[in-house]
Amino acid sequence: MIADHKIRLAVFSDAPAISRMSRDYIERGLGWDWTPTRVLKSIRDRSTNVAVVREGTNLLGFGIMKYNDDTAHLHLLAVQQLRRRKGMGAALLNWLEASARTAGIEKIRVEARTTNEAARAFYRSRNYREIERLAGYYRGVEDAVRMEKRLWADGYSGLVAE
Ligand SMILES: CC(C)(COP(=O)(O)OP(=O)(O)OC[C@H]1O[C@@H](n2cnc3c(N)ncnc32)[C@H](O)[C@@H]1OP(=O)(O)O)[C@@H](O)C(=O)NCCC(=O)NCCS
Repeated sequence: MIADHKIRLAVFSDAPAISRMSRDYIERGLGWDWTPTRVLKSIRDRSTNVAVVREGTNLLGFGIMKYNDDTAHLHLLAVQQLRRRKGMGAALLNWLEASARTAGIEKIRVEARTTNEAARAFYRSRNYREIERLAGYYRGVEDAVRMEKRLWADGYSGLVAE
């Protein structure tokens, strides 16, 4: 199922649809930080990958990951509501994680609202551990849970293969 999703790097024209999905599925009730302009900056940023799945002109899912020296940060990940539970979120995450592994990055971090049970279950299923709770992380009004995945266990032979 995962292999069925055609994932590619976003182009500039993807920015408005990505931004709308962020507003509606991720930032709901918290304002709108990921405006089209901010998404465009990520698409242009050489240390960030913006991955998308499209069907014709319709954006089905996307993920944005920023790669730093030893840690990558998953900023956003979303799949259209009617397309969920078909492996697309996992496929996008695998794709973004593969770039982190290639770059020798040690760990990936992501935050989600503590109330976002679906996302927490999703990341747990992808071997992310909940490492801390961040009070008021979202505009002082909602707590977050920070999750982390270590890509390397003990040296090269410990590379987590999925
Ligand atoms: C989180 C999200 C991206 C997952 O995408 P998805 O394509 O539905 O995920 P997958 O189909 O790859 O799911 C993989 C596994 O994660 C777990 N999972 C996913 N959604 C789940 C849910 N609602 N409840 C429980 N477990 C869930 C399951 O173990 C699932 O495997 P299974 O379907 O074989 O049981 C999607 O729910 C979404 O877009 N949510 C809104 C945006 C959001 O909250 N993003 C995260 C914060 S950035």
